[in-house]
Amino acid sequence: MNLTFRQLRVFEAVARHLSYTRAAKELFLSQPAVSMQVKQLEENLGLPLFEQLGKKIYLTEAGREFYLYSRTIAEQLQEAEEVLAELKGAGRGHLRISVASTANYFATRLLARFSRRFPGVSFSLTVTNRETLLRQLEENECDLVIMGKPPEGADLETTGFMENPLVVIAAPDHPLVGEGQVPMERLQQEVFVVREPGSGTRIAMERFFHDQGVTLNTGMEMSSNEAIKQAVEAGLGLGIVSIHTLELELETGRLVTLDAEGFPILRHWYVVHRSGKRLLPAARAFRDFVLTEAPGLFPQGGGRGSAAAS
Ligand code: PGA
Repeated sequence: MNLTFRQLRVFEAVARHLSYTRAAKELFLSQPAVSMQVKQLEENLGLPLFEQLGKKIYLTEAGREFYLYSRTIAEQLQEAEEVLAELKGAGRGHLRISVASTANYFATRLLARFSRRFPGVSFSLTVTNRETLLRQLEENECDLVIMGKPPEGADLETTGFMENPLVVIAAPDHPLVGEGQVPMERLQQEVFVVREPGSGTRIAMERFFHDQGVTLNTGMEMSSNEAIKQAVEAGLGLGIVSIHTLELELETGRLVTLDAEGFPILRHWYVVHRSGKRLLPAARAFRDFVLTEAPGLFPQGGGRGSAAAS
């Protein structure tokens, strides 16, 4: 079969209207041009598609069959055009992305991959803690945010996309390394190096120990995951951080995770924007990209999470 998209489009219009004149009008063609396309198509197929009785035209049996296929093809072509138009839109623009400091361990990798797919999109990336992210959302200072579960009742659209397990870390020579299910009471005897009060990790950790009726000995407070990891490695105490911050340290054996009662604390990552905010095509594309690509970054350390969890 040697037919063209143009013939298919013309045939579909003539068959739908059962009129050469109306099809020609719809397609902005002359009537002889339309008749010519149909005639060539019939020659290509080796079968008549229309028959003329008096002034009216009718579909032949072959025409009716072919019409079913041509409609599906025309619909799919239309859909393809729409998707490509969207992609053209997504291929340009500037995105303001803000991520929790803990999410930055994977967010930059996602941005790099997204940039390769959409080289025309530029970014500004803010890396900050949960408290500041919530303020930025409220003041419309960013398009999209990647963070832990936002508070209930905030005017935000949120979608959970990946687990975020919080673990207890220790230096490799710490006496609790290798112990199974270290009990809460034992953890209470240790000094913990913790994140600053505006941090989502800190809030989740406090909520967890509060629910267990346990008070931790929080010796030192640090405003970044890197500082906590270095302090723990230097033997200043134990730490609680997201597993997503630990890839290198676990690989090189500079830090170890403890098998502690109740751990990991299971949190989830969310992609968030203000309700009612009209996302530009580039922002929508990035949001979809995060939802589909992020879980693949950590096949063992937290796949797709359920949006119901914290
Ligand atoms: P943070 O991020 O501890 O770096 O603030 C985690 C979160 O938002 O839950």
